[in-house]
Amino acid sequence: MCVADDGVGMTPEVRRCAFDPFFTTRRHQGATGLGLHIARHIVVDRLEGRMVLESTSGEGTSVSITLAEAPLSA
Ligand SMILES: Nc1ncnc2c1ncn2[C@@H]1O[C@H](COP(=O)(O)OP(=O)(O)OP(=O)(O)O)[C@@H](O)[C@H]1O
Ligand SMILES: [Mg+2]
Repeated sequence: MCVADDGVGMTPEVRRCAFDPFFTTRRHQGATGLGLHIARHIVVDRLEGRMVLESTSGEGTSVSITLAEAPLSA
């Protein structure tokens, strides 16, 4: 699954920290900075999937999620 936007995108500095817990550039708007951290935790750690984020400042952001079949032991 891939979701993408044509928003402000991320600078390389923001991209580097985007998945860090509590990192946000929108604190003044009440954001927690947990959105991407929790999403990646669910996809990568819990579901053993893959998550790839690409973002270019001024152009937009995309996130691809790949989920495999559930392991037989699940
Ligand atoms: N679609 C996007 N376009 C541009 N920057 C983004 C996008 N999604 C996340 N970011 C950047 O990554 C940071 C961290 O994202 P994250 O979703 O973890 O937190 P948040 O959106 O700030 O807050 P929360 O999701 O907890 O309400 C954001 O503050 C923003 O700087
Ligand atoms: Mg968010």
